[in-house]
Amino acid sequence: MHASAAHHVAIVMDGNGRWATRRLLPRVAGHKQGVDTLKRCVQACIERGVGVLTVFAFSSENWGRPTDEVSGLFDLLATALAKEIKPLHENGVQLHFIGDRSGLSPKVCAGFVEAEALTAANRRLVLNVCFNYGGRWDIVQAAARVQARGEDMSEEAIEASLALAHVPAPDLLIRTGGEQRISNFLLWQLAYTELYFSDALWPDFGGADLDAALAWYAARERRFGKTSAQLSGAGDAMHGRQAA
Ligand code: IPE
Ligand code: IPE
Ligand code: MG
Repeated sequence: MHASAAHHVAIVMDGNGRWATRRLLPRVAGHKQGVDTLKRCVQACIERGVGVLTVFAFSSENWGRPTDEVSGLFDLLATALAKEIKPLHENGVQLHFIGDRSGLSPKVCAGFVEAEALTAANRRLVLNVCFNYGGRWDIVQAAARVQARGEDMSEEAIEASLALAHVPAPDLLIRTGGEQRISNFLLWQLAYTELYFSDALWPDFGGADLDAALAWYAARERRFGKTSAQLSGAGDAMHGRQAA
């Protein structure tokens, strides 16, 4: 049984800096181009019937970059939010900002709350923007919330408290930029996600690249620990005969 269309696609949008450096531009110019790519990618996902898109925009570890790059990224976030919130809303996108807000200014947080409230009833595409996000942070904050509620620690309880509890786990993870690593993205949620690595730098990632990733996904057999025969039904039939 092959995977059907991907409902939830997650993307590590990597390669902005290299894209800019190759053009002798400052790294922030690559991030700016990356915002445009994300806009086009959102539209492409809507057109292809993807239900959930989760993107890694700023990791807990990205604070370690030069201060002008960090402040450039925060400026881009503020500009993009101010400019894109209306078109996203009109396009039926439900926005969520995922990550540790305790490390962000009250102004940035207020922008997140406002955008989420405005778009909460939209149903065409759920867009999760992971900003100041780390997979380890997510697991720890979830466990802390389970503990604070006095619940027994279980996989179900943690899962229900993770920052992406409002959506199922990603079916497909795309990482652009040629690196094959997770970089502290969705550690818990990627347990059974299909992983796709593209050499395209994020600013160059287009509709054809997305189609290639979705087609690759559609040809995967997702076994979740079982055997191929079980998935095709043959195993179950055998089991049925033995039981009869
Ligand atoms: C990804 O692009 C965007 C962020 C991490 C914010 P990079 O800035 O990591 O680009 P490279 O990997 O240096 O090319
Ligand atoms: C991952 O990319 C984070 C984002 C895309 C936001 P990085 O460029 O920070 O990852 P590493 O440092 O190469 O692992
Ligand atoms: Mg990078």
